[in-house]
Parts: sequence; structure tokens; C-alpha cells
Amino acid sequence: MKIYKNIGIVLGAAWVSGMVLSACSQDKNHPGYEYMPNMYRSASYETYSENPNTANGTSAMKPAEGSIPRGYSPFEYGPSNEEYMRAGEELNNPLEITEKTLAEGKELYEIFCDHCHGAKGAGDGQIVDNGLFPPPPSYADGNSSRGGMMADLSEGEIYHTIVYGLNMMGAHASQINDEERWKIVAYVQTLQGKDVLGNAMSGPAEADSTQTNPVQNVEPVEANETEVQSNEESH
Ligand code: HEC
Repeated sequence: MKIYKNIGIVLGAAWVSGMVLSACSQDKNHPGYEYMPNMYRSASYETYSENPNTANGTSAMKPAEGSIPRGYSPFEYGPSNEEYMRAGEELNNPLEITEKTLAEGKELYEIFCDHCHGAKGAGDGQIVDNGLFPPPPSYADGNSSRGGMMADLSEGEIYHTIVYGLNMMGAHASQINDEERWKIVAYVQTLQGKDVLGNAMSGPAEADSTQTNPVQNVEPVEANETEVQSNEESH
């Protein structure tokens, strides 16, 4: 019996070494024998491989003209002062301003703005306190370097500033999405001393307090937000 066992070992060893040797090929560009080649080479075209089926011969193609990434909202205003003013006149907060919106705006403000502008927007954030940064003007009683009072900045002007920044203030467009920006805008307005609760679409063009909730037809709102809203209106 022992002899069969030995023969088995010898044959097994020969088979393994045969596999190992034949796996190598004289041709350096040939992979030789591969165990389960699909594990190494996918049947589909790799992202950056050549591709005979496409017009320019590559698998990765440019997105169709005009396509935008999922979840991204294009901002159709440039960085210039004229565009800032145009945004200031034309843009209105599409969100319904409830206690919840303001609480979320406050939270975002504390993450992104507080360290410079200060908790109450007085221009005394922590890095200003540390003497590392010149104080931004107070939202309530400072002057904008673009002219006028900070307290008079419209929501579109604040939004534009978040997107592009201004001088020492960096652009925040890549960190804060459209909805978050509007929540912050509403909160900054409270620091300007404005009462924005329930005041959706209250831009300079439509500052008409007799209008009842004009945003209803524009933006679908969550049911519970509507409830909060109607509670607010009832007192
Ligand atoms: C790195 C510090 C810094 C951060 C962070 C910062 N700001 Fe500013 N911000 C400034 C400074 C400085 C100015 C004054 C710029 C000037 O007038 O030259 C300013 C100005 C502004 C203005 C006035 C724009 C105008 O037209 O005069 C607004 C509004 C504003 N910031 C909002 C925000 C909001 C909202 C955030 C958070 C999303 C934020 N800032 C984050 C430093 C900062």
C-alpha cells in the first residue's frame, strides 16, 4: 500500500510542477496559463481601456453636453459684483421658513460660519478672537464692503456670498448644497434682526405681507413642516 501512496505523491508533484512550468511562457507578453482567467480579466470593457465601439476609441466617454451631476443645482450667476446685485434682486428663498428650517440653518451656520462671523454674527468668531483673522462686519450693524448696511443685504446677496465668498471669505459652494445654503441664509437673516419665520419668498420684489404662503405652489413641503407652519401662523 505504501508504494501506491508514494506513486501518488510523485504523480501529484509532477502535475504541480508541470502546471507551474507551463504557466510560464517564452513570450513575455503572453500571460501563460491562468487559473480562472475571468478572475483577472473582466469580460466587459474596463473604464480606461480601448474600445472599438465608441467614436473616439475609448471606453470612458464625456457626459452629454448640459448634463449635471445628481444632486447638483446649477447656479446661474457669475462671481462679479453685477451678478451679485442681480442675484440679490432676483433670488428668493424657495424654502418655507419654519422653526425647524431655522434650527437647521443655525446648526449649519455653527459649522461653517460661526468661527469667523461669531455666534450672533457680530464679527467676533473664534479665529478673530485669537487675533488670526480680521473681523468680518457685523450682520446687525456693520457695513458691507460692497456698499450699504449688512443688515440690508437681501437673501439673494447672502446666498451669492455663500457660493462665491468675498475677499478674505472663501467660497463655500463645494461644501454646502443649495438647500443648506438657503437654510443658512434664513438663519443669517435672523442675525440681521429680521423676522423671517413663515416668510418664504419675501425678497425685495415680493415683500408683501398680505400674501399667504406663496411658496405652496412652488416647493413641495413635508407634511410636518406644514403643520409647524400653520401653528406659527395661528398666533
Ligand atoms: C474664514 C472666515 C469666514 C468664514 C468661514 C465665513 N465668512 Fe463671511 N465674511 C468673512 C469676511 C472677512 C467678510 C468681509 C469680506 C469683505 O467685505 O471684504 C465676510 C462677509 C460676509 C458677508 C457680507 C457680504 C457682503 O456683500 O458684504 C456675508 C453675507 C457673509 N460673509 C456670510 C457668511 C456665511 C453665511 C458664512 C458661512 C456659510 C460665512 N460668511 C463664512 C469671513 C468669513
